[in-house]
Amino acid sequence: MKTAITELFGIQHPIIQGGMHYVGFAELAAAVSNAGGLGIITGLTQKTPELLAKEIARCRGMTNKPFGVNLTFLPSFTAPPYPEYIAAIREGGVKVVETAGRSPEQYMPALKAAGIKVIHKCTSVRHSLKAEKIGCDAVSVDGFECGGHPGEDDIPNMILLPRAADELKVPFVASGGMADARSLVAALAMGAAGMNMGTRFIATREAPVHPNVKRALVEATELDTRLIMRALRNTERVLKNKGVDQLLEIEREKGGTLKIEDIHDQVAGVYPKVMIEGHMDAGAWSCGMVVGLINDIPTVKELIDRIMTEAEQIIRQRLTGFLDGVETQKPARAVA
Ligand SMILES: Cc1cc2nc3c(=O)[nH]c(=O)nc-3n(C[C@H](O)[C@H](O)[C@H](O)COP(=O)(O)O)c2cc1C
Repeated sequence: MKTAITELFGIQHPIIQGGMHYVGFAELAAAVSNAGGLGIITGLTQKTPELLAKEIARCRGMTNKPFGVNLTFLPSFTAPPYPEYIAAIREGGVKVVETAGRSPEQYMPALKAAGIKVIHKCTSVRHSLKAEKIGCDAVSVDGFECGGHPGEDDIPNMILLPRAADELKVPFVASGGMADARSLVAALAMGAAGMNMGTRFIATREAPVHPNVKRALVEATELDTRLIMRALRNTERVLKNKGVDQLLEIEREKGGTLKIEDIHDQVAGVYPKVMIEGHMDAGAWSCGMVVGLINDIPTVKELIDRIMTEAEQIIRQRLTGFLDGVETQKPARAVA
């Protein structure tokens, strides 16, 4: 399948693996790129720019296909040295950066001077237009369903994607709630040129996380995510667990007076406890509503091949079947 996104990034399939803290290591990024998608290393999971340089080199040892690095500009307890991270990306020869959180405007000259293509992840049409204006090559439009930070507008992708299509000139991918061929075809129908998946890629063989995490994703339903940190205007969608229940209790008690320090124990340092040690009740970690569509733990290649094969079936059989009057009742099911 050829779209503006496959052409922009030089990849076979219009599928991107979004940056994920303590998940987006070289193993996953390389597996996605080797399967024809665009794998992304999560920059800030590497505690220093030197460590990121090593992770990029490790990934290069596992794939000769294009891969990218995520740089997240979010409020954090300590501000990372972004220019040094960008230097590590440039020197590592990486040609795609996924930015997220705050606007990457101040870093665009450095990224563009290094010939890097920038895809900015946005949760609104106005932020997408700003990204286009400051020279981003593409946008990842992240709906309210998404795992991680959905912003504060609460617009789901059924509305956000066609709105983005009406306004944007640069290509965009649909992000949030994407899991299978049905997601991809729907995203393409709504004007996207591909899709970005986070949560779905965690439940794959190559994702270098504790088996408990993958099991939790297979067991959870679409009812099991919660929104936290709304009062701080730093909303995050996470998987419900005991730590999250405690956090929500604190949020209820504090109401509008909530400060980040009040929930420090439930949000700080949680990722290594969950992703490496498998302590599933340690606190808040991002997870999308799409968890309700995850029923297996395939290899990345099995997942991507399945998506592309079934997408073709949906388009060629189901959709053209409606036009030809031969397809009527059969539901489009994802293979479990
Ligand atoms: C465990 C996890 C960690 C994430 N960490 C980051 C991150 O560090 N930076 C970022 O830009 N997005 C992060 N995301 C968001 C993903 O890149 C992606 O945009 C999102 O998961 C898409 O929604 P989905 O989960 O419904 O596919 C994270 C998502 C998850 C599930």
